[in-house]
Amino acid sequence: MPGFSTRAIQAASRVPDVPQPPVNVPIYATSTFEVSDAVELGDLLEFARPGHSYSRYSNPTHAALEAALAELEGGEAALVTASGMAAIHAVVLSLLRSGDEMIMPRAVYGGVIGLARAVLDRSGMTHRAVDPTDVDAVAAAIGPSTRLLWLETISNPTTAVADVAALVQLAHDHDVVVVVDNTFASPALANPLSLGADLVVHSTTKYIGGHSDIMGGAIIGSVARVADARRIVINAGGNASPFEAFLALRGLKTLALRMERHSSNALTVAQALEGAPGVAAVRYPGLASHPQHELARRVLRDGMAGGMLAVELDGGRPAGERLLERVRIAVHATSLGSVETLVSHPASSSHRQLADDDLAAAGLSPGMVRVSIGLEDVEDLVTDLAGAAHPG
Ligand SMILES: Cc1ncc(COP(=O)(O)O)c(C=O)c1O
Repeated sequence: MPGFSTRAIQAASRVPDVPQPPVNVPIYATSTFEVSDAVELGDLLEFARPGHSYSRYSNPTHAALEAALAELEGGEAALVTASGMAAIHAVVLSLLRSGDEMIMPRAVYGGVIGLARAVLDRSGMTHRAVDPTDVDAVAAAIGPSTRLLWLETISNPTTAVADVAALVQLAHDHDVVVVVDNTFASPALANPLSLGADLVVHSTTKYIGGHSDIMGGAIIGSVARVADARRIVINAGGNASPFEAFLALRGLKTLALRMERHSSNALTVAQALEGAPGVAAVRYPGLASHPQHELARRVLRDGMAGGMLAVELDGGRPAGERLLERVRIAVHATSLGSVETLVSHPASSSHRQLADDDLAAAGLSPGMVRVSIGLEDVEDLVTDLAGAAHPG
């Protein structure tokens, strides 16, 4: 009879047969999978047969989240990653080679600017920033080496809304691939693939997870494009964790409900803050004063506009910093898309990569505060934020 240690390891590794399917997808906390021979393992590592070999390549919990996201975004395939930035990194590197150019919005999540500077600049790839709400400016920027147009459905942090359908038409006329970061809208409010985008990315850390307790990312698109991105993730090691994929699956089940409440709370707060003492401007796509309000009504589902506001305060940076110190219900923390209201100061956090000139060109003043409206009682949020913005 084998010794105790041998028996303990074998006994504790037996996977149960489960005749009744569990209601929730289990967390497959395993790095590796047993194969019957070397040919099977070789095939699995090449994705030449169904199944799993090693969790950097694929894992059943990841696969369940990937299938769900592909279905909800209307894509053929999906890939989940360790973070939104791991997804963005994989997509960009799967599309660009040395000498290729990426065009991206001036107002874009700061991590994209960080990636361009830290990775693209040193690998012979170039990038150029444009205002994506000006289709003629994007047309003028496209040149012979342009290979990728990067867009955000709703921009971080200025809440500009891109006309994805018009920009896709323009880009495709020049053989430029369009990738849309749909994090701010989530698949509950918009599906950029249905507007012609080639790929969608998400930080599942945000609305999809929804509770500020996971890091994750996702890429959705055609089988071939997702496979190209998967090769980068496998080789660079940006794979997701099964536990966090499980929490993202759980988040998806309440995403629609949460987005309804995020959107209705955000509209009420935006209306209350617009014109309130101490507030210079509120940018929220659900407000009639937003420059792309009509476009937002067309591209975002059921008149919802999500939970993200950009609030400009009278008094610039000191007034913005004071609001962050004064809030009592909203939490001063970076990130967004969670049940709790989060406030942050992009100029010193998510967009600290930008010099004051670049901030101004992106329409992002040093005093702008970004508010991710949560699911609290809306009267409490209005009192908290209007009070914190008040100059007195
Ligand atoms: C719009 C957007 N995309 C991508 C990311 C990056 O996601 P992660 O922090 O999960 O890497 C963020 C993070 O704030 C974001 O706001």
